[in-house]
Amino acid sequence: MAKNFDEMEDSNRSGNPSIHEVSDPARRLWLRGGAGAAVAGWFGPSLAALGGLGALAGCATAPGASSSAAPGGSRLGFTAVPPSKADTLVVPEGYVAEVIAPWGEPIGVPGRMPAWRRDAGNSADEQAVQTGMHHDGMQFYPLEGSSTHGLLVMNHEYTDEGLLHGPGASADSPAGVRKSQASHGVSVIEVELKDGRWQMVRPSRLARRFTAFTPFRVSGPAAGHALMRTAFDPEGRTVLGTLNNCASGRTPWGTYLSGEENFAFYFSGGEQTTKDQARWGLPKKAFYPWPNHDARFDASRHPNEFHRFGWVVEIDPMDPTSTPVKRTALGRAAHEGAWVAVTRDGRAVVYSGEDARFEYIYKFVSRDRIAPAGNGLTAAQANRELLDHGTLYVARFDADGTGRWLPLVQGQGPLTAANGFADQGEVVMKTRQASDLLGATRMDRPEWLAIDSDSRWVYCTLTNNTQRGQPGRPGPDAANPRAENAMGQIIRWQEDGDFDGVTMRWNHLLLTGDPANSRPEARGNVKGDFFGCPDGLMFDRRGVLWIQTDAHATQMNKGEFERIGNNQMLACDLATGEVRRFLTGPVNCEITGAAMTPDQSTLFINIQHPGETPSDISKPDAPQLYSSWPDYQPDGRPRSATVVIRRRDGGVVGT
Ligand code: FEO
Ligand code: CA
Ligand code: CA
Repeated sequence: MAKNFDEMEDSNRSGNPSIHEVSDPARRLWLRGGAGAAVAGWFGPSLAALGGLGALAGCATAPGASSSAAPGGSRLGFTAVPPSKADTLVVPEGYVAEVIAPWGEPIGVPGRMPAWRRDAGNSADEQAVQTGMHHDGMQFYPLEGSSTHGLLVMNHEYTDEGLLHGPGASADSPAGVRKSQASHGVSVIEVELKDGRWQMVRPSRLARRFTAFTPFRVSGPAAGHALMRTAFDPEGRTVLGTLNNCASGRTPWGTYLSGEENFAFYFSGGEQTTKDQARWGLPKKAFYPWPNHDARFDASRHPNEFHRFGWVVEIDPMDPTSTPVKRTALGRAAHEGAWVAVTRDGRAVVYSGEDARFEYIYKFVSRDRIAPAGNGLTAAQANRELLDHGTLYVARFDADGTGRWLPLVQGQGPLTAANGFADQGEVVMKTRQASDLLGATRMDRPEWLAIDSDSRWVYCTLTNNTQRGQPGRPGPDAANPRAENAMGQIIRWQEDGDFDGVTMRWNHLLLTGDPANSRPEARGNVKGDFFGCPDGLMFDRRGVLWIQTDAHATQMNKGEFERIGNNQMLACDLATGEVRRFLTGPVNCEITGAAMTPDQSTLFINIQHPGETPSDISKPDAPQLYSSWPDYQPDGRPRSATVVIRRRDGGVVGT
């Protein structure tokens, strides 16, 4: 997400001790050498012929590049693309990129497939069965193990109201708010590689949308809690909608986890916000006009509705009749997403960061082991309560390179009724306040995590934090070592024992930035192609770490970002530390949503908010001021979209 939610979310005024010990990046870098270099199960290249691929909308191949095997034994077998300021997507020569499922396409619900209107004139009802706006986290679910047929499940994080509404339509109206709500949430689409191209399968019995008005069941310690009950839901067990869904994870039991990130900005708190509300950044006035036409989002009248967002939601994409669930045991936070590791004895460990300045990193350890499918139940059904029972922790990174997971358990330490935590429901609803009391480490905006299941190192992008070290704000510490951190870093840790360990060792994979910058804090130490603002992360099956970036339109291509170019996707060979630029995106977009087919021959990514204006809201009368990607139609508008990337010879992407 690049909307200026990022700039606003800075509500941690806790007095947590800052370590104030600037780490030595050189010491922390490569502490374990090629720690993450283990090669996970090699999948040989698909031999499927990929002929017949023509020029594709808005995508180009870098001139002079080659996809031959890389020199020097690197596992990165493509030639880097250069930084770009062009309004197109560029991939290495030898690769092809296809746009599918842009915002507004009918997803294929049988009997309800309204065509996209280039003037954005689709109604809210139509939008509710079309792909949402601003695609983000995404996972691929093979159908019967296939690498040519499956489901793509993706988040739609937020809306640009200046692009969303058609001629004569107002965002600040009941219909406008309904359309905005229908554009949020999650899409399930069926896709297939057919006749040489990936395409949506429509109609599909599995096609499904989740929006800001879809009913979700609440489970875990906050279900039915007094602070979850509202005029709309006196039982406190059913919430209408999910929103600001950012990154996503895929569970070993086949479900989809999605984080509700910047939920606070959909609510209006009015003039009299409480201390607890302020800790969550509840604004006086919502960033969207939703409270004007949907009373749920007026927190001055319905304060408990605010407690019903900020959860990790779980969706079973294979069962179109399943009810999605808000898993409150994982804690309420501005969750970027949620990622699952498995302990040696088969329990689930869910890692999650909170993308806001000076907020925290969490993990949840399930009480029970992951159950296999059987007795007439799918794996998803057999694990329908797995994430409701377990222990939630928050991370403290100490200056000596060790760390500790602090239990967020009612009755332990300061988490008592006297301090505002009468039961575990209150602890999970007030995860931030509880973490403040425990002295957790205030991080530089934790975004995605990726787990190397072979080396057992866990990686997390800390995208940036320009407030670090500003007057009155926390200074640098070991884990967040740079003041006015515009560029970000990638931290990693290995638990002592197993993924459920309560102590760890940590270091930085890298600090991002351009080595030519005059300000030392903006230079970084990237070996290879430099970049800024890491966000998306994904391990492929070879153990190559893919990194996606999200610098904001206000920064891109100027100042310290002048040479970095548009947002991009890079690959890091952990054996050598080399980072190589794989693709660059169109103007003012973010690159996000990485997923691959089991045979690794297809990479799916999302291009989010191409053409976003520095002020965030596009002008309805000039929607293409910055970008026309991917349609380039004179009467069109930029659209977030999924892009499918393959090698022309059908080989493994990245080799
Ligand atoms: Fe939605 Fe933190 O990016
Ligand atoms: Ca981001
Ligand atoms: Ca993100």
